[in-house]
Formats: sequence, C-alpha cells, structure tokens
Amino acid sequence: MRWPADDTLWAMSKINPAMGFQPVLERVLISEEQLQTRVAEIAAQISNDYAGKDLLLICILRGGVVFLTDLMRKITIPHHIDFMAVTSYGVGARETSGKPRIMLDLNTDIRGRSVLLVEDIVDSGITLDHVLRLLQTREPASLDVCVLLDKKDRRQVEIPTTYVGFRIPNEYVFGYGLDVDEVFRNLPFIGILKAEYQ
Ligand code: PRP
Repeated sequence: MRWPADDTLWAMSKINPAMGFQPVLERVLISEEQLQTRVAEIAAQISNDYAGKDLLLICILRGGVVFLTDLMRKITIPHHIDFMAVTSYGVGARETSGKPRIMLDLNTDIRGRSVLLVEDIVDSGITLDHVLRLLQTREPASLDVCVLLDKKDRRQVEIPTTYVGFRIPNEYVFGYGLDVDEVFRNLPFIGILKAEYQ
C-alpha cells in the first residue's frame, strides 16, 4: 500500500513532511519535561483511585496512543488495555466534521468493569460524547475520562473529565500523538502550528 493512501486528501495539505517540523512550528507550548512530569502525576492519581478495582484503560486511536503508552508505564496497579479508533477530522480539515466515525471497536466486554477512556484532546467534545454514549449502553461499573489536553473554549458538548493534563488556549496544537495532516505525532512535545498552515 502506498502512503498516504489517499492522494486526493493529501493534496489538500499545506505541509511538506519531508522538511521536518521546524518550518511549521510557531513555538513549543508544553515541553517534553512538563509532559512527563504531568503524566507521572496523573498516573499516580489513577493508581491510587483505582487500587483494588478491575481497571480497563481504553485508548482512542490514533491521537491517544502516545499518552496511553507513557501513562500505562507509570501506573503501578494491574490493569488491562483496549483500543477504539474514532475519527472526526480528515487530512486538511481543521474543524470537526461533527460526525465521529467508529473505525475500530473494542475486543473487550466492558460490563461491570472500571473503564477509563484515555484521549489526547477534548476540543468540541463531539468525539468523546459519541464514545461515552456508546460505551454507557454496555453497562460498565464506572466510565471516566482521562484527557491530556482540554481546549475548553471550543466546547460544544459538555464532557465530564475526571483527569485533565493541561488546559490549553484555542490554538492548533500538534505533537505527542496529535497530528498535522497525519504527521508529526511522534514529537515528544506539544507545539503550536504556525498560522499560515492552519
Ligand atoms: C482528534 C482527537 C480527538 C478529537 C477531539 O481526533 O484525537 O479524538 O479529535 O476533537 P473533538 O472534541 O472536537 O471531537 P481526530 O478525529 O483528529 O483523529 P485522530 O485521533 O486519528 O488524529
């Protein structure tokens, strides 16, 4: 399979990944050190709050994957993981389509379990609202949200967030799981995208 698979969508992108991230980076918003410190704090809280419970971390792909893998390695209690893939923003899109699509569903029965959704960012809230409504019908013992970045100013739907890494301003951010047109998810920091690429 060629990458990117859909050349038509890719043609809408203004960025050239071959140039690296520097040309598109306005500034670093959250450094690697700040991220790692905060992730460790949240992991400690989760380890304490869920001690003795049947904890299942559900990562929402793709953006949540970097946060999940750092978080789970710092959680000190036994837990399981599973994945869902949900997408609302296509390549070149800077606004939510408003219609999240479940691209991959769980392999796990969540009935009676203590479920914690792990997500990179809550923006309009539409993605998490959709996922929370779906999972609630499957009757977990508890269903909570752990989100790294909260862009509160953009909220269209209220989301109950139990753990929040950072509240951030209404800027286009990337890195640490978040993409610009599907690239730069691997950066260890969160950066702000230059206005001309937004
Ligand atoms: C991003 C992000 C969240 C969602 C948040 O996903 O990972 O899932 O948008 O936005 P919302 O609160 O406005 O719904 P995206 O659709 O870009 O898919 P990705 O995780 O695969 O990058």
